[in-house]
Amino acid sequence: MIEIKGLSKTFKTANGSLLALDNVNLRLEAGEMVGIIGMSGAGKTTLLRCLSLLEKPDEGAITIDGLNLLEARDDRMRDYRQKIGVVFQGNQLLKQRNVYENIAFPLTLKGETKQNYDERIKRLIELVGLQGKEGSYPSQLSGGQKQRVAIARALATEPDLLLLDEPTSALDAITTRALLTLLNEIHAKTQATILIITHELNVVERVCEKVVVIEDGKFIEEGSVEDVFKHPKHKTTRLLLGLEEHA
Ligand SMILES: Nc1ncnc2c1ncn2[C@@H]1O[C@H](COP(=O)(O)OP(=O)(O)O)[C@@H](O)[C@H]1O
Ligand SMILES: [Mg+2]
Repeated sequence: MIEIKGLSKTFKTANGSLLALDNVNLRLEAGEMVGIIGMSGAGKTTLLRCLSLLEKPDEGAITIDGLNLLEARDDRMRDYRQKIGVVFQGNQLLKQRNVYENIAFPLTLKGETKQNYDERIKRLIELVGLQGKEGSYPSQLSGGQKQRVAIARALATEPDLLLLDEPTSALDAITTRALLTLLNEIHAKTQATILIITHELNVVERVCEKVVVIEDGKFIEEGSVEDVFKHPKHKTTRLLLGLEEHA
């Protein structure tokens, strides 16, 4: 469905240049649920920003059905953006808008009228279990509830590809479990391709079929969750799995 080929991204910093993504390749099949796992600073968010076309890589291609989005016409890029939903690190809800308005926001941006989207927003609120909270503002919600709003908002345009950046990093264990159950439900219902970026193993273990381990901008190991978790090859993977201590 979507393929990343030879993607590299360098940032200029005060201390010189920093290779945040180093020639990474990834193929996402339609309907797959894939986890990207790595420690802080590994390049996970940069990858997600490149995939959502917010960041322009220096090299490489992001192709859909053979079309390289990085060289595509503006209207093709717009079409693609409409087909992806993103939950950013730290969810970034609009503080001045309530739950209903936050979720409907991508649709109002597209110029859709409430009459058109009201049913869909109500269904999404039900899906993420926030009935009764429609009129609440972000400051009145718990961390888990805010994440549910962010997920519902990302689903508002009915995306084929859902990208989530550390969706559970601010949540306690029980709230994390509930959110992962929700992601499984969403996956079953929408058949969307889901890419979850995380530094938490249990997230990948509970919901993903495939996992990619990233370190210093490179993909160092990938495969089925079962294989990688049972037979980790790379030292960093073993570290992440807690099978090895830092030297
Ligand atoms: N806009 C930027 N300018 C300079 N350096 C950046 C920028 N964004 C990210 N980086 C650097 O790139 C590396 C990867 O960052 P990031 O993708 O955010 O990692 P992760 O999400 O895995 O924690 C880090 O060393 C980070 O400091
Ligand atoms: Mg990050």
